[in-house]
Amino acid sequence: MTEINLLRRYPKAKRNIQKRTGAQSAENIRIARDYGRDYFDGSRDTGYGGYRYDGRWVAIAEDMVAHWRLKPGDRVLDVGCAKGFLVKDLMKVCPGLEVFGLDISDYALMHCEPETVGRLHLGNCKRMPFPDASFAAVIAINVVHNLERAECIAAVREIERLAPGRGYIQVDSYRTPEERDIFLSWVLTAKTHYDPAGWRALLAEAGYSGDYYWTIIE
Ligand SMILES: C[S@@+](CC[C@H](N)C(=O)[O-])C[C@H]1O[C@@H](n2cnc3c(N)ncnc32)[C@H](O)[C@@H]1O
Repeated sequence: MTEINLLRRYPKAKRNIQKRTGAQSAENIRIARDYGRDYFDGSRDTGYGGYRYDGRWVAIAEDMVAHWRLKPGDRVLDVGCAKGFLVKDLMKVCPGLEVFGLDISDYALMHCEPETVGRLHLGNCKRMPFPDASFAAVIAINVVHNLERAECIAAVREIERLAPGRGYIQVDSYRTPEERDIFLSWVLTAKTHYDPAGWRALLAEAGYSGDYYWTIIE
């Protein structure tokens, strides 16, 4: 397992922590966890407040292609692909790369980028309908922490099964009590969360041998 930030060129989030603090009512959490319109394109209190393509994944796609030395014909899976932004940009930066996605949200898939139509599968990452070692890389950015611990481990095992040693898992984390407080004041969907040591223990328990990094709200 290697800790590597493949999202280092992702624009720093301008979250207005103050604005959402206290907005995590049980109702808002329930709405967010439906992963429907309210989560992606509703208000900031129930999710993204507008999840739109703006090209920000192009730089990350370039770094991923270089990291795994991906080439035309290789298959890549983006788990929790949402509307397919990263799927689209991986195909853009490496023409001929066979990129697919999987997501639990039919709303996201129904509003996917046109270039990704037919490539995105509706499903749950705790059990993915693909053969062993069928991908050159499997990416899961801010997804597996949305499952309860046992299912989260199942999802990590699935990622390892589909691309042994060639996964990239990014999850919500915090390094200090202050960062944990900020995280708890912001989070809507995450059901499993740890500091980096806790996550490393979970990944090891799942037999994971790919790469990983953290999303930390500062
Ligand atoms: C925080 S969003 C991240 C989307 C995208 N990876 C990104 O970084 O912009 C989490 C995504 O995971 C999906 N998701 C949540 N639980 C899931 C599950 N059990 N299986 C598959 N996808 C799931 C949601 O529908 C949503 O698209």
